[in-house]
Amino acid sequence: MNINLYPVKIAGVGKGLPETVITNFDLEKLVDTNDEWIATRSGIRERRVVSSGETGTALAAVAGAQALASAGIDSGEVDLIICATSIPDNLYPSTACEVQKELKCSNAAAFDITAACSGLVYGLNVARSFIASGIYKTVLLTAVDVHSRFVDWEDRSTCVLFGDGAGAMVLTRSDNEQNDIIYADMEADGSRGEELKIPLTGKNCPLVGPNPVAGQHVSMNGREIYKFAVNTVPSSIKKALDESGIGPEQVDCYILHQANARIIESIADKLKISRDKFYINLQKYGNTSAASVAIALREAIEDGSVTPSSLLVLSGFGAGLTWGTAVIRWRG
Ligand code: ACO
Repeated sequence: MNINLYPVKIAGVGKGLPETVITNFDLEKLVDTNDEWIATRSGIRERRVVSSGETGTALAAVAGAQALASAGIDSGEVDLIICATSIPDNLYPSTACEVQKELKCSNAAAFDITAACSGLVYGLNVARSFIASGIYKTVLLTAVDVHSRFVDWEDRSTCVLFGDGAGAMVLTRSDNEQNDIIYADMEADGSRGEELKIPLTGKNCPLVGPNPVAGQHVSMNGREIYKFAVNTVPSSIKKALDESGIGPEQVDCYILHQANARIIESIADKLKISRDKFYINLQKYGNTSAASVAIALREAIEDGSVTPSSLLVLSGFGAGLTWGTAVIRWRG
């Protein structure tokens, strides 16, 4: 959907990653797997995980601080903090409130959104709506998930795929008429929610009988999620480009959710776009869920794959099921 009451600028991008690296070879000591299987099926070589008392909030705060610094914006100028997370540190307070405290954004409202691996693109939609409508001028969008605490480390079909990390973006009202968010949308199909899930059961009142039994860890129908991604994302990107009046060849870089290199390559092939235009850094981090698009964008800027005036497509997809695509201009 295009809403352009006030033009929106993407002023800065950041990332926050734990230091501890777990390689595929390390995982061979934990489950019956091997580097060759993981790399061939997913493209992943290593991932970062939180350790000891390290929190998602701390990672999101690092990413947020970096995004604010790169935007040249003081924490007191932030009107709203959104945190896209499906694995918050607490049910409450929200991670966004914890980030507000860490970064001393004392003038900001704060709330979390839950959209799993589509979190960054969903958050982008929400942030730009607040700015384009004139309600707020400056929004800090953070995205963080720490799957390492919610995968079953005895289940080789899921534990090898995920990593922990945070990303962030600062969005502001543009001083001129330039609008960096050319298009953004988000979609969902709740009827397929069972295919990828982390249940949260809690405990019944002891007076009302036994508790439902469920492990609080990722359960995933890998093949169905694979099919969902390679069928839904190309249509989503096509729609975004058509509605923007932009040809696929005009896009400088496609930054998709970093779930699996085979998924990204298959999407590129279906769209008949060169695989070289699709940025991939999942070999280093695995699937960092909500954070992956922002981490990839930050690294694409750092290594020169994205330069000032680059035209970009961002696309997220994951649990819910949810998905969404944005067409943006990066001005540096
Ligand atoms: N190491 C070694 N063998 C394994 C492993 C492992 N880590 N995991 C599964 N296997 C085995 C299976 O047991 C199976 O063995 P069998 O044939 O003896 O039964 C064999 O490998 C093949 O398993 P499949 O599940 O058929 O493997 P597939 O080629 O479908 O790849 C994968 C699995 C990588 C999970 C794929 O389905 C996929 O990428 N799905 C998308 C899931 C995804 O990316 N999820 C991330 C979260 S969602 C999101 O971000 C969109």
